[in-house]
Order: sequence, then C-alpha cells, then structure tokens
Amino acid sequence: MKKKLSTEPYKGVRDFYPEDQFIQNYIFDVWRAVVESFGYEEYNASILEPTELYASKTNEEIVNEQTYTFTDRGDRSVTLRPEMTPTVARMVAQKYRDLSFPLRWYSIANFFRYERPQRGRLREHWQLNADIFGVRAIDADVEIIRIAQEIMRTFGATEKDFVVKINNRGALLAHLIKKGMSQVEAEQELSRMDKGMSKMSDTPKAKEIDTLLSLLKDKGIKNVKYAPDLVRGFSYYTGIVFEVFDTDEKNTRSLFGGGRYDGLGEKFNTIKESFPAIGFGMGDVRIRDFLEVHKLLPEYSSLTDLYLCVVDQNYKDIAESLADYLRKEGLNVSLDMSEKKIGEQVKTASRKKVPFVVCVGKEEHDSKMFTIKELKTGKETKLKKNEITAFLTKMANAVS
Ligand code: HAM
Repeated sequence: MKKKLSTEPYKGVRDFYPEDQFIQNYIFDVWRAVVESFGYEEYNASILEPTELYASKTNEEIVNEQTYTFTDRGDRSVTLRPEMTPTVARMVAQKYRDLSFPLRWYSIANFFRYERPQRGRLREHWQLNADIFGVRAIDADVEIIRIAQEIMRTFGATEKDFVVKINNRGALLAHLIKKGMSQVEAEQELSRMDKGMSKMSDTPKAKEIDTLLSLLKDKGIKNVKYAPDLVRGFSYYTGIVFEVFDTDEKNTRSLFGGGRYDGLGEKFNTIKESFPAIGFGMGDVRIRDFLEVHKLLPEYSSLTDLYLCVVDQNYKDIAESLADYLRKEGLNVSLDMSEKKIGEQVKTASRKKVPFVVCVGKEEHDSKMFTIKELKTGKETKLKKNEITAFLTKMANAVS
C-alpha cells in the first residue's frame, strides 16, 4: 500500500479556512478603505522576480539565507518575492517617463521568506504596502505616518495601545562615515545594530525628527517617539525610518514599519538620478495577533443571507426556483442538497452562521407562503415570495 499523505500545509505557511479567510478579508478591507480614502491607487505584480533584483552589498542575509530562489528550465535564477519595495521601485522606474508624479500607490500581496517559523514570523505572509513616489518634502513622511495611525484607529486601537518609533537611518549612516568608516563598513555596522549586536553611544538626532514630531502633533498624533537605536533591516532606507509597536510589554516584536528610500530607483537602467520614495509594509500575521490580544477581532458572520432547507425531495424544484428568484433580487442564497432530515438541515445552517432559513415542502407549494425563521431568536415570519428580499433587507439594516 502507498504511504498516505499528511494533511499538514508546508512548513511555516497557513491554510485559510473560511473563519480565517473571514478575518483576513476584514484586515484587507480595513487596509483598502483607509489607503483609498487618502487617494492611493492599487497595483500588483507577479510573485516571481529575477534574483538580481534583490542583490546588494549589505542585504546578503535576505538574499542568501531568507529567499526562496531556484533556477528555472531556461537557466534563469528566480526568486519568490520576499517584499514589495524592490518590485514597486522597478515598476516605477520602468514607466518613469509616463507616470504622473507624485504617485500614491498601494498593494495587498503575499511574500515568502525562508525563516525559522515562530509566533509573528512565518514563511509566507501578506502585507499592505503603501508608498508615495516623487515627494522629497516632509509632507510625504507626515502622510505615511498618518495613514499608519488611521489604519490602527480603524481597527479599533487607541493611542494607548501602540506607539510609533521614528529615527533617521540616513543620519546614522552619515555619522558613521564622518567618524571614518567606509560606506560598506557603516552599512554593516547599522545591520549589526538592527540585529541588536551593536549599539551606538553617540547617535545623532536629525533636525528633521523634531519637525516631523511637531507636524504630527499638529494633526493630533501624539504617540510618536524618537528612538535613537531604530535602524530597520534594509540598506535602501535613506532617511526617516519608523516602526509601530504594541505598548503591551509582552508583545515586543514590531507590528509593522517603513521609511524613506530616495535612492532605490538608481539601480535601474531607465533612471539617471533617483526619485524620492517613502512608504511602509504592514503584515497580516502580527496585526491579527495584535487584534486578538486586544480583543478587537470581529465575530465571524456568514455572507449567505438565507439557507433553504428541503422538507420533501418531491418539492426540491420549488426550493430551487425560489433560490434563483431571490438571487436575481440580490440575496445570497444557499440550498441544502444533503437530503438529510429537516432538523439536520437547519442545524447545518446554524453551524454555518447563516442568519435565516426557509423550509420548503408541500405546504409552501400549496399555500405559496414561506416561513422565514431567524435562527438567533427563533422568531418566524410568514411571507409571500416577493416580500422576502424587503424583509431581509430591513432585518439586516436593523442589526447594523
Ligand atoms: P519589513 O519590516 O521587512 O519591511 O516587513 C514589513 C512587515 O511585514 C513587518 O513589520 C511584519 O508586519 C511583516 N513581516 C515581515 N516578515 C514577516 C514574516 N516572516 N512573518 C510575518 N510577518 C512578516 C518591508 O518589507 C519593507 N519592504 C516595507 C516598506 C515598504 N518600506 C517602504 N515601503
């Protein structure tokens, strides 16, 4: 006999059962609503990128140890994207002459990193990326941090629940070079700082930090703090970097982060002088954990408005035509095809959290009246076919 297969997903990735997908969609909906309210346009790209896109002097850890890289049948080295920033910079550079700057762009996409899986760190995660291209002024930094705040607020978090830590990576780098290090040495030192393996005793505070803090304060945002040790792991950051943390001491890992990367465009053959860019990446894994710990997750509810149960298989076509009629009117209708006892069918609807059921049989066929039962309350209402949609719409509005 052949060995039977395991049902476990691949190490460090997740299956999304309907309840998980419900949460995932909720997170994506909040992300989308907030960034679109600030005028961001959605873009996307393939998961596959040529490996050379990620090669750089100091990013070797990510490229050599954390990427999924393989050689395709045409002998090209291919990488599953570990982040969006190089891709979006490539896209902006490719159409540089045709695009109308400033750009406000966002995407919601999945990424792969070969990590040791642990809480908050998996091998596949999803990120919202929101970035502004073409603005050198600090207004862009202000907007990006405001959006980060607005997303947290929309999830139901208050200013007490999280803090935004900011620093200027460019200023740290310049400081180390001024002290005598070469560019490469200075970047390696920042990379050690990022891993907590090194500390700088005389970190310079960039002038820009106070300006940014006061501009944010003007917008009513007070939970932003200067963090002299904050570096962030990517060498492409040239200015402000920020990271958002849970204020709960038990949850020390950062929730999400980003920064300014005014030089990344230079690597592309279409670009002579680089373009300014700033943005952030917000992951689904840590935000979900945060929402769970802070009891901010929404309760699961079904998208199906009505579940039709069949009392007598001889009248199945009545149920089917009722379903089609109501779908045309805009309702989401599911029809039971199990041929089980009626009590079992209603139980199925209840387990799936469908709010209303109608049982269809001879009585409904003869009287042309349908009894709608609300499963939560047990309340029953007798209606004609053409009254059902208005009734359910009224009930749905009364709830929300
Ligand atoms: P990052 O800090 O590497 O930045 O990732 C952004 C966020 O993605 C993290 O803060 C975290 O929420 C989530 N994340 C990253 N890796 C994992 C993982 N292995 N498991 C679970 N969640 C993870 C970037 O990727 C930058 N490209 C962001 C950016 C956009 N900077 C400017 N624009």
